[in-house]
Amino acid sequence: MPTIGLIGVGLIGRAWANVFSRAGWDVKAWDANPDATAAAPKLIADSLHDLARHGLVKDPAAAAKRVKAVATLEEAVAGVDFVQESGPETIEAKLAIWQRLDAAAAPETILVSSSSAIVASRFTEGLKGRARCLIAHPVNPPHVVPIVELSPALWTSPDVVKRARAIYESVGQVPMELKKEIDGFILNRMQAVLLSEAFRLVGEGYCTAEDLDKTIAHGLGLRWSFMGPFETIEMNAPGGIPDYCARFSKTMAGLASRPYSGDQFEPENVARVMASWGKTPTAEAVAQKSRWRDDRLAALVAHKQAQKGYRG
Ligand SMILES: NC(=O)c1ccc[n+]([C@@H]2O[C@H](COP(=O)([O-])OP(=O)(O)OC[C@H]3O[C@@H](n4cnc5c(N)ncnc54)[C@H](O)[C@@H]3O)[C@@H](O)[C@H]2O)c1
Repeated sequence: MPTIGLIGVGLIGRAWANVFSRAGWDVKAWDANPDATAAAPKLIADSLHDLARHGLVKDPAAAAKRVKAVATLEEAVAGVDFVQESGPETIEAKLAIWQRLDAAAAPETILVSSSSAIVASRFTEGLKGRARCLIAHPVNPPHVVPIVELSPALWTSPDVVKRARAIYESVGQVPMELKKEIDGFILNRMQAVLLSEAFRLVGEGYCTAEDLDKTIAHGLGLRWSFMGPFETIEMNAPGGIPDYCARFSKTMAGLASRPYSGDQFEPENVARVMASWGKTPTAEAVAQKSRWRDDRLAALVAHKQAQKGYRG
């Protein structure tokens, strides 16, 4: 069986353990915080059992048995096929961890980072094995949401990217590939624009925060569960995308012409948005809602997997 070494088993690292263990991989898990390392196998087993209710894991007990906590980073990467790092999102942490990873892992082992926004060239340039390093950015939680953004640096070997893509596909994820590096990759850049407009519209009093959420959950978001924006607009004009642009580009360009200065996230505007939102849930309520969301997402993914042409 192939083996993955997981470095950092917080929220995302543990989710990767779900993804790989349910696909039959052995998992070695290590975290700089010994308590996190020790707690990981039980937390992962619990979440595998949750996923099984939706048919997203066939044998959760067998998958959980494949996950082992180990005492050092070096042990986690020894003899493994693939390493996924999910440590803190700071350049200092990435630089320190990746120096150790590159020194400890066998030259043929592929090293990937879950980094949400920091591109690989910022922490792999000086590494001897930099050709085997890239980003594989998941969306929380990756055991439910399958997209993985593969973002190689200029020096990442194309063969490594190809092998990483094949590995993610083989464990049931849906990889996409960036052709060149950009901070935040694709998903977070799209999200940043949508959130900026949401904060602006609510802050300027055009609708309530609750109604804005409805517009996405019962409108754009519902449609986007099955197709992206290009495929969507292709259906919105008889002549496809060029026809859509000819018909609507003036309107769309006008709507998108006001630049963002960052004011939308400043405390004054956030206070306006919060006045509209009108709730401050407890941490327990948020955790409960997260579990509910993950359950619903798992059911939707199971439905999507049953469709023809699931990966497009
Ligand atoms: N949370 C998200 O929604 C999300 C989504 C996609 C990607 N990511 C990325 O995944 C990575 C991890 O995020 P997270 O949300 O799991 O954070 P987290 O805080 O839940 O987990 C990070 C873990 O790293 C450990 N750690 C700290 N220093 C370390 C070191 N030197 N070596 C190994 N482990 C170390 C911590 O003890 C902690 O358990 C980040 O790069 C983040 O940007 C997060």
